[in-house]
Amino acid sequence: LSTVEVNVQPIAVGQAVTVKWRGKPLFIRHRTPEEIKEAEAVPLSELRDPQTDNSRVTDTAKKVRPEWLVQIGVCTHLGCVPLGNKPGDPKGPFGGWFCPCHGSAYDTSGRIRQGPAPKNLEIPPYLFTSDTLVRVG
Ligand code: FES
Repeated sequence: LSTVEVNVQPIAVGQAVTVKWRGKPLFIRHRTPEEIKEAEAVPLSELRDPQTDNSRVTDTAKKVRPEWLVQIGVCTHLGCVPLGNKPGDPKGPFGGWFCPCHGSAYDTSGRIRQGPAPKNLEIPPYLFTSDTLVRVG
């Protein structure tokens, strides 16, 4: 399917789900206030692929929803699926995702912070059609 709709209502704060979109895993995390604060506090000068947290949680209607991070769960190094989206997964040293293939670590905004990956986890085009429904693609 080129477009997928996800009801995010059952995803509690601090939880994440993985759904399939265009053959790839799509990560949707309901971020905690601490995760949001952490992501917003990082100076752009510390980032390999500088992007503000805000720019990564803005939908195609320009609405900013810091509690929802919607991204493609494919490591930008060689395409493994990073850990951190399932309960009990290691989230890595920056609290986001950790790629077990060669050790890339992503922060709570999905930005690359350590390891060989060159880019942040990709944000697909998405739109919240209501407070609980997100359409991706
Ligand atoms: Fe993720 Fe290499 S594929 S670190």
